[in-house]
Amino acid sequence: MKTVVRWVGMVMLGLMLVGQAAAEDGYDLWLRYRPLDGAAQARLHAQARAVVLAAPASPSLDAAVAELRRGVAGMAGREIAVSTRLVPGALVLATPGQAPAGLVLPWADLGREGWLLRRQTLQGRDVTVIAANSDIGLLYGSFAWLRAVQTGADLARLDQRSAPKVGLRLLNHWDNLDRHVERGYAGASLWDWWKLPDLLDPRYVDYARANASLGINGAVLNNVNAKADSLTAPFLAKAAALAGVFRPYGIKVYLSARFSAPVELGGLKTADPLDPAVRAWWKAKADEIYAVIPDFGGFLVKANSEGQPGPQDYGRNHADGANMLAEALGPHGGVVMWRAFVYAADASDRAKQGYVEFQPLDGKFAPNVIVQVKNGPIDFQPREPFHPLFGAMPHTPLALEVQITKEYLGFSTHLAYLGPLFAEVLQADTGHGGKVARVVDGSLHGQRLTAMAGVANIGTDRNWSGSQFDQANWYAFGRLAWDPDLGAADVARDWAAQTFTARPAARDAIVALMMGSREAVVDYMTPLGLHHLMGTGHHYGPAPWVDNLERADWNPVYFHRAGRDGIGFDRSPAGSNGVAQYAPSVARLWSDPRTTPPELLLWFHHLPWDYAMPSGRSLWGELVARYDRGVATVDDMRRRWDALKPEIDAARHAEVAAYLAVQAHEAQWWRDACIAYFQSMSGLPLPAGVRPPALDLAAYKARQFAFAPGR
Ligand code: GCU
Repeated sequence: MKTVVRWVGMVMLGLMLVGQAAAEDGYDLWLRYRPLDGAAQARLHAQARAVVLAAPASPSLDAAVAELRRGVAGMAGREIAVSTRLVPGALVLATPGQAPAGLVLPWADLGREGWLLRRQTLQGRDVTVIAANSDIGLLYGSFAWLRAVQTGADLARLDQRSAPKVGLRLLNHWDNLDRHVERGYAGASLWDWWKLPDLLDPRYVDYARANASLGINGAVLNNVNAKADSLTAPFLAKAAALAGVFRPYGIKVYLSARFSAPVELGGLKTADPLDPAVRAWWKAKADEIYAVIPDFGGFLVKANSEGQPGPQDYGRNHADGANMLAEALGPHGGVVMWRAFVYAADASDRAKQGYVEFQPLDGKFAPNVIVQVKNGPIDFQPREPFHPLFGAMPHTPLALEVQITKEYLGFSTHLAYLGPLFAEVLQADTGHGGKVARVVDGSLHGQRLTAMAGVANIGTDRNWSGSQFDQANWYAFGRLAWDPDLGAADVARDWAAQTFTARPAARDAIVALMMGSREAVVDYMTPLGLHHLMGTGHHYGPAPWVDNLERADWNPVYFHRAGRDGIGFDRSPAGSNGVAQYAPSVARLWSDPRTTPPELLLWFHHLPWDYAMPSGRSLWGELVARYDRGVATVDDMRRRWDALKPEIDAARHAEVAAYLAVQAHEAQWWRDACIAYFQSMSGLPLPAGVRPPALDLAAYKARQFAFAPGR
């Protein structure tokens, strides 16, 4: 009864809202399917009169049909029927085995997951074909067709095809079993471990739909700082329940594995990867996992990094550890993603450590191991050069790991569209014969096992990602993992059209705002190649003065090295020579400050404050100018967003505006605190006309944030 009343209420509310922009809260992500305007509705209806099935029945096919019907009902305002008879204006879902007579397509090019959309005449009827070699391909194709509708493509002339360039496109959830999310700024973990496996939150399906709409085909469920508990039978049953929900959407589950689990769970005296009992334990564990999750994807492992156990505890190396797990998973088709995020061996230059430990192991890993490398050599900074391992391990599959959640970019309150950051690393020329994207898609060195991973920004917040615009980062990750050569602006255009409005002027205004946003963060936090100036532990706010942490390479002063003589980390041949880890063509450029791009200048060089910049300013003047530019860009973003008010539904407009106000305030804080601190180092006056920081340095230093999220 209660439900009926609720439904009647909702329908009435829906009717009241017809004709005006309905209240939106962001839950629907980019799959909103709001009514098109009259003419577009009629055009859509003409192209989508029915769904015709020419493919074997399966849960994935059902999901595709349900999504098409949901989309058409929402956008055209009509329920459409499902049939097996070819009718004019049909959407024909076809696989080769059951394709209607006369349908000739380049099936082979599509591979297992690719799709093709084509408006054509078939047996005398005008139809739209959605074709693929598998039910998952049809699901991806259906989402692609819906995207075409949402972004205003000409449906009467549709002709598109796409196949993923990267095999494994994975979200890495840093979710703990108590639902706290490490570096999570969007509420608690979606995974309600306590209620699993019996209770399945309907949100799991919407999560899977969103991922499938982008082509994301795997999820590592638990934090890389893993508890062994996730490998126990009760938790495997919970993971299996999630796998069951995700399976129709083409998503496999993976788990982060704690290296010392044989000791903690198995009661063994050692986790030495060369010990036969340890190997037997992992084999049995893999068998147990596959008995409950037959399509389990594999393990993600953080070993000998930031206190995590690993093979080095037993005098073994990363390959020994990874290969042991690979041996256990191999018979079942599973993979090991072994992370290269390590910085233990020698603190003289933290940026060098991943390469030092991993490059010599090139060719030593089992075929089902992928070494997972962060985009840059430090840790998800607003800007880093690409990681020197890309291109330097030709005999080893390398995965690219990016961080979607914005640990170092202002959490979810700052608007920073990460498409340009992801694209910047993918398009970077490694100097080893191709760009990073060619390492990631395997083509540079002929690797067949390929992967891209994104540390998720998803939680229980109603809008999923903590802010409306952070949804774009989930979206951009998925689209770029499918096709690393997509342009960040093109991706933003699709997202903005699907998420806010397809009206070109408004859509493009949103894209323009997004495209400048990441650079704004770089400018007001860490311009000119500076890095790791954030507050201790939580990484919130500026703290370039911190110099008292246990490990030298945790301190901001270690990274910026500012003093009376200048600023920057000398990684040139005269310094740590970190630059030598890059291919000679790249190393040559970045060894000399005059040929190092200003964006990376202080990453590679320690330079005097009066160093002459290409702009004509001194280094000190340029630094200050960049901080000011960052603040000004955020002010400009606010103005642009205000101007969009008539175009955006009120609730989401107001929410974004409120977030931008926080960002403007915090950008100013960053700028003021950093200028105050660096001025105390340079001892130089502010350039003429520059506004002094609002407060004394001591006031910025005194700020503490005891309960900042995500720790
Ligand atoms: C960063 C982050 C940690 C995380 C680590 C990792 O250092 O701050 O929370 O565990 O990266 O990637 O393993």
